[in-house]
Amino acid sequence: MKPPRHPSRRLFIFVETKSWQCSVNGFVTMKIVDNIEEMRNLAESIRRDGKKIAFVPTMGYLHEGHLSLMRYGREIADVLVASIYVNPAQFAPGEDFDQYPRDFERDRELSEEVGVDIIFTTTDEQMYPEGYQTYVEVKEVTKNLCGRSRPIFFRGVATVVTKLFNIVKPHVAIFGEKDYQQLVTIKRMVNDLNFGIEIIGRPIVREPDGLAMSSRNAYLSKDERKSALSLSRSLKIAQEMVKRGEKSSSRIIDRVRKEILSEPYTEIDYVQIVHPDTITDVEEVTGGALLALAVKVGKTRLIDNCMLVSVRS
Ligand code: PAJ
Repeated sequence: MKPPRHPSRRLFIFVETKSWQCSVNGFVTMKIVDNIEEMRNLAESIRRDGKKIAFVPTMGYLHEGHLSLMRYGREIADVLVASIYVNPAQFAPGEDFDQYPRDFERDRELSEEVGVDIIFTTTDEQMYPEGYQTYVEVKEVTKNLCGRSRPIFFRGVATVVTKLFNIVKPHVAIFGEKDYQQLVTIKRMVNDLNFGIEIIGRPIVREPDGLAMSSRNAYLSKDERKSALSLSRSLKIAQEMVKRGEKSSSRIIDRVRKEILSEPYTEIDYVQIVHPDTITDVEEVTGGALLALAVKVGKTRLIDNCMLVSVRS
């Protein structure tokens, strides 16, 4: 018999729990693992039991974007693992590593609500002990867009995701299209290094007014948040232009930039139209192209993107 997963779905029976499950008064609850060896051993035993592991890596301060990935993982696998770790290797000096919002108690509750089985959380001392010197670099797809303004970012992401994959040993891992270049980078890495893990991308989750959800939205003042709506608004305008037959990347980019700069506090890092697989610039939108942007609103750097699909050739 499958043991009850949440206290909300109570069954008044006592059940035998598996090694990856935690039991309180006969109810199966979410397990929190903060030790790499313990997580590796758990993952091994889950795999030995023939169960499929889905994995959602995060830096915490969870919002609906993260939770949508978890809900999807819940549906497609037997055991859902989420990690919460703010990875210092992907922040350059002067970026917001120290200020990055953290609230483990809230994250724990939200994860349990969406049916996470195991939260893996760890420390810098465990992940990057003294003498650490190995990094993973994905060469080409990281050169453009965020790779230009954050030169160590993708090396940090690829390295930590590799380590997390080796620790959690998932069959499938789920990432958001909000960080489109990150998703492409992970897919490339998994393919190039024969990880044998299925990588699934899921759509961007937005606030009702269009703002793409992000842990960093917490930094925005009321006025900055209003200005930040120009990002999603400009994406919509670009999609409309393409629908009406516009193909010229430069004309679309000019219009997007104008929309964003019409608001106070905005400073554009990049607005680019790229091939969705190679992340290299395209001059014309033919077939599908990715419109990607990064904008500083006040001190907060936000990213957003959408696909542009030209209907007429
Ligand atoms: P983080 O920013 O916490 O995001 C974790 C995952 O949630 C990523 O796959 C991201 O694309 C996804 N996500 C964030 N906002 C989203 C939204 N509005 N809609 C859909 N998905 C969204 O990305 C990272 O952490 C880190 O780089 C990490 C991969 C964990 C490595 O440290």
